[in-house]
Formats: sequence, structure tokens, C-alpha cells
Amino acid sequence: MKTRKCKVLVVGGGPGGYPAAIRAGQLGLDTVIVEGDRLGGTCLIRGCIPSKAVIHAATEFKHAKDYAANQTMGISVKDPEIDMEKMIGWKSKIVDRLSGGVQMLLKKAGVEAVAGWATFEDAKTCVVEREGEEKLKITAEHVILANGSTETELPFMPFDGDIVISSTHALELKEVPKHLVVIGAGYIGLELGIAYAKLGSKVTFVEALDRIMPLFDAEMTKPVMQWLKKHDVDVRLSCKAKGLTEKDGKTHLEFETAEGETDSVRASKVLVAVGRKPCTQNWGLENMGVDMDGAFVKADQQCRTAMRDVWAIGDLIGEPMLAHKATAQGEMVAEIIAGHRRVHDPVSIAAVCFTEPEVVGVGLTPDEAKEAGHETVIGRFPLSASGRALAVNAGDSGFVRVTARKSDHVILGIHAVGAHIAEMSGEFALAVEMGARLEDIAGTIHVHPTMTEAFAESALAALGHPIHIPA
Ligand code: NAI
Repeated sequence: MKTRKCKVLVVGGGPGGYPAAIRAGQLGLDTVIVEGDRLGGTCLIRGCIPSKAVIHAATEFKHAKDYAANQTMGISVKDPEIDMEKMIGWKSKIVDRLSGGVQMLLKKAGVEAVAGWATFEDAKTCVVEREGEEKLKITAEHVILANGSTETELPFMPFDGDIVISSTHALELKEVPKHLVVIGAGYIGLELGIAYAKLGSKVTFVEALDRIMPLFDAEMTKPVMQWLKKHDVDVRLSCKAKGLTEKDGKTHLEFETAEGETDSVRASKVLVAVGRKPCTQNWGLENMGVDMDGAFVKADQQCRTAMRDVWAIGDLIGEPMLAHKATAQGEMVAEIIAGHRRVHDPVSIAAVCFTEPEVVGVGLTPDEAKEAGHETVIGRFPLSASGRALAVNAGDSGFVRVTARKSDHVILGIHAVGAHIAEMSGEFALAVEMGARLEDIAGTIHVHPTMTEAFAESALAALGHPIHIPA
């Protein structure tokens, strides 16, 4: 067996692991990264990026269908069609390009990338099984665990890749399913379910809770519910999936309704999107002497585990399971190993759901602020009053809502809904992280005409004197 000693060993080449390795390499640390699949991880290969490509293509197709139906903006189009194989091929090219980019960036940072599956013998030693090559034993001074998470299965309805599919399968379909049932109206279910509704599937959501997107409050999810209703998407709330059944020779999903009755709905595919779980199996975690926190690896604010110089980041250590959190933690750990004083202590981590319309949340909602004991002022600005939103046909629904502390006007939370609104999440995160006051946002000259003006107007509204809506 070949052997390799290094200063830093990163396991997992996703949005947590690869930035950790790049930063460690930039800091001059002898770094090795091991990835068992392709560089980029779930996010880049079968998550955030490919889903956003499919969502974008679906939205373009929906626009074309709208033009064909009613000549919106005077544009006429005849019988638009979608070639799923070509669309998926286009999406895959984006993934290939980005995965290749990660490989190049690691190389430029002086990081050695090892392709293979790592299994730990003890906290600092792993053996990597490599295809067509000798096994490699790596011993490291520091180990960064960035193993990520995987889809949760329903025990009574395991993924078969044909009828019962995961989000990974949903991004590789060769044709648009006629009847798509989505179990779980959370992040993944809604993003992909809405995309397939735009592509032409008859979509039904079966959700155990009495509302969609529990992470966001009812005011924010209302425009999404309105879109679903308008587009004939069937949303079955307070319903629990039970399993597949045959009716008249056709596959149906059976579920229990809020009243305890059994109902069913036609399903050519069932997308199960009921959450994700950390990858803690099959790589020798049990040999490493780290502590657990429920299903997650236990780590402190510097991402230290119970074992000295073993660090854990991203989905492996808990919620929120978001790529940008993993990236921030990865960069931080590399810097701590290099001797910098760092801690993971964000005021807030922005969350975005790429639904129709898009939903963004940073910091506390008005209810959360109240629960935390704050007296608040709230400002809202509807996108229907934004010239830019109307000019890009995005003014139908949506708003920006800012929640600030009444005593000093420090912004506690910013929540927004609307087409393209995800692109504003950076400014929202910056404002909350830097402790901006309403006057800071209102006093920052926002470019006209852009949708960012809606943020300044919401701050003005909270101060009681908006310009483009009545005070
Ligand atoms: P989720 O936790 O967002 O939603 C799962 C939903 O399934 C819940 O509403 C739950 O009540 C429901 N459910 C569970 N069991 C059920 C059953 N038997 N019958 C009916 N409903 C049931 O999980 P999801 O959508 O799978 O996403 C996983 C994670 O992936 C998210 O928490 C997020 O961290 C990450 N993600 C982030 C995205 C983004 O940042 N835009 C996009 C996609 C995923």
C-alpha cells in the first residue's frame, strides 16, 4: 500500500471541503483532499447548481408557453416544446464545467486531490480505495471532515429510481412525468415540484404539516401558495404519505388525510423530499473518537470535534444544511489551523428558496423578534410599486419586509418574496451582519431602476415616510 503524510487532510470535495482545502493550500499548508465521487459534492453535482439550471430552463419554457397562449409583451411564439434529454444535457455541461473548475482551483492552490473512498482506521489515518490504483494510506496532523449529507428515504417506500425518485433522480429524468407527486413541501420538494409544474407535469404535493415551507412565515409563503393555486397545482396539507398502490392498472400514491381517512392520487413518479441526513456511515467515523450530537457530529463554534485536531464542518454538524454555511466554516477551519484567530459566529445565515416567486429570509421574522423580547417597527414595500419589477414583468406579487428594533432602529431581520429576489440576499445579509440601522439603508443611494430600491423603501416605510407608497 502506498503511504502519504500531510499537514491537512480534507475528506469530502463539496462546498465545505473544497474551499477548506483551497484556503489551506493558499496558506501554505501541505493539503490533501479525498473525494469518492466527483469534485463539487452534492451541491455542485446533484443539488444547488443542477437544480437551479433545471429551474431556470423550466421558467424559460413557461415564459414561452405564456407567450404562445396570450402574447405577453406582444411576443408571439408557436407551440413551444421541451426536449428533456437536451435540457438535462445542457445542465450536465454546466456541472462538468464547474467540477473541472474546482479541480483546477485545487491544483493552483497546491492541493493534492485524491479520487477514492476514504475509510478511517483511527482519528488521523485513513485508507483510500482508488479505482485502478493501489490503495493509499494517508496520515495527517489535522483532519477536516466535510462528508455532507444524503437524502432521507421513507422506510415503506425506498427509492427505486423509476417510480420512487430522489432529488438526484429528478435532475436526470429523460421525459417530463405526466403525474408527479411530491412528498414534502419543503425546500427541495417545492423547488423541483414547481419546476416540473412549469415543464408541464400535473403536480400534487403531499405534506404532513398544515402549511408549506415551515421555515418561513405565512406572509412569505402566501405568494407561493397563490402561484400554486393559479397553476392548478394540487397541495394536500396535513396529509401523510403511506405508500404506492394500484388502481385501475395505474400507480397511485396513497396517503392519510387530516381526518384520518385514506385517499390517493395518480402518480407516474413520486419525488420523496422529506429532508436530508448527515453522512455518518461507511467511512469509519466510529473509529475516530469524536462525540455525536444526535445524528450529527458534535462540533463547537470553531468546528472542533471532541478529538484533538479533528474538525468537522457543513451538513455533517447540523442545521442549517446550507452550502454557504459549509463554505464559511471550511475557510475558517483552514485559517485556524494556520494560526489565525477565528470563530463561526454569524449574526444570521441567509436562506433562499428558489420557488416561484423566490423567497429570502435573513435574521428574525417579526414573530421571532417578539418572542426574543424586542419591541419592533416593521416596514413593507410591495414589488407592485417598483418600476423595475414591473418593467421585468415581476411585479405581480412579492414584497420586501424589514423588521427593526424600535429603540435604536437596528435591523433584526429582512424577508422578501419575488421573482429574482434571491439576488438581493447578499445586501440583506450584509445589512444584518454589519448591524445596519434603518437610517443606514434608507440613506444609502440605491440605483434606479433596480429592485434593490424596494429594500431602501421598506426601511423608509419602517421610518414612516416611504416615497413610492402612501405613508
Ligand atoms: P425540508 O426539511 O425542507 O422539507 C421536508 C418536508 O417533508 C417537511 O415539510 C416535512 O413536514 C415533510 N414530510 C416529512 N415526512 C413526510 C411524509 N411522510 N409525508 C408527507 N410529508 C412529509 O427537506 P428537503 O426539502 O428534503 O430539503 C433538505 C435540506 O436541503 C433543506 O433543509 C436545506 O437545508 C437543503 N436545501 C437547500 C436549498 C436552498 O438553499 N435553496 C434547496 C434544496 C435543499
